[in-house]
Amino acid sequence: MGHFFSFDPESTVATGSDLKICGGYPPPVIPGRTEKMGHFFSSDPESTVATTDSDLSFSFDRNDMTLKFIEFKMKKFYTSDKKIALFNSDVMELYPEMPSPIVIISDGPYGIGGFPGDPPTPDELPLWYEPHIKEWSQISTPQTTLWFWNTEIGWAVVHPILKKNNWEYVSCHIWDKGIQHIAGNSNSKTLRKLPVVTEVCVQYVKKPIFTVDGATVEMKEWLRHEWKRSGLPFNTANEACGVKNAATRKYLTKCSLWYFPPADAFEKLSDYANTYGREGGKPYFSLDGVKTIKKEDWKKMRSKFKCPHGITNVWSEPPLNGEERIKIGSKAFHLNQKPLLFMNRTIQLSSDPGDLVFEPFGGLCSGVFAAHQIERKGMAAEINESVFDKAVERFKYVKTQLRLIQKVFG
Ligand SMILES: C[S@@+](CC[C@H](N)C(=O)[O-])C[C@H]1O[C@@H](n2cnc3c(N)ncnc32)[C@H](O)[C@@H]1O
Repeated sequence: MGHFFSFDPESTVATGSDLKICGGYPPPVIPGRTEKMGHFFSSDPESTVATTDSDLSFSFDRNDMTLKFIEFKMKKFYTSDKKIALFNSDVMELYPEMPSPIVIISDGPYGIGGFPGDPPTPDELPLWYEPHIKEWSQISTPQTTLWFWNTEIGWAVVHPILKKNNWEYVSCHIWDKGIQHIAGNSNSKTLRKLPVVTEVCVQYVKKPIFTVDGATVEMKEWLRHEWKRSGLPFNTANEACGVKNAATRKYLTKCSLWYFPPADAFEKLSDYANTYGREGGKPYFSLDGVKTIKKEDWKKMRSKFKCPHGITNVWSEPPLNGEERIKIGSKAFHLNQKPLLFMNRTIQLSSDPGDLVFEPFGGLCSGVFAAHQIERKGMAAEINESVFDKAVERFKYVKTQLRLIQKVFG
């Protein structure tokens, strides 16, 4: 299968084995149409939307995110430039094949009955999220950051499940929507609490897993354990790193003042232990007992983070309105559409260009949309077909605008 070309939603052409993006317009008609596959269509020569009622499966080349469709149940997908992929499906169907994301933006149920499938109360959220959280743990690496959006109580009840599945809490960001959010909508005579104008976006990272004698331990303990195993006195770590006392105090301490050793320092510790350490225990600082961890691999042992100036954990921004808000008539199309500002911010903080951003509960796919604008790859699932269609429209509209601008201004 692959090369899905069509400029008319009624016609379908499918051939080859990989999905390719249409290059010309109108596209050539390729012989070999496969009835079984349903409708593949694209109104935009650089993108493809596929619809099928039949079995269509996909997998990813983990390196370049090339989509390969084999045999599976997938209703629709949209892709553009091999950089984004939106799926109209239950995200559960995507997990088994997907590549590791650097960023996960979870904006799923809030336990307020906000959209079909959103439980009516937060009490049900732990059960709802658990299977997803387990999958996120499987697909993620220590480089992955999870941004978990919810209400305060929604987050509170789901936090233990995240923790149980090896997600480490980093920080809670509060979206303060200000008084506009409740203007004209709250009756202080009947309310028994102050009006709520906030949501939270909580940052988690995936803890790397180390084992010592069959037991799972934290990085801090593992580093200390490896040094101890080498038989070298702890203070020789300072000599290894060429510092007075910082190495022992920072990297090999048991206490809360522990620091993650930067790659250079880690390499020095490892080289020193493997040169001067007890012969019988070598290699030290190895995960497989055969080779030591290389500097480049050590860098991947923690999530990316670039701290910007002047931004705190309180994000004061009015509720989404104006041009950015996608509407039907005068009404918001999706009540939960998130501001691109926050999507952009969280992605910038925790990834580099080319990294994969994953939005399991896409909605209008604001996360992937922002990711695309700042040169990350993006992948999202949206279970509801009309919401998915609207998200696709959003991408196509922007692409059309960009093309027009390029045409006029060169
Ligand atoms: C809170 S909204 C996301 C809004 C999004 N952040 C935006 O800016 O537009 C959650 C979305 O997740 C979708 N959803 C719920 N369960 C899902 C599942 N299992 N797989 C894929 N999408 C799901 C819902 O249909 C809903 O549109």
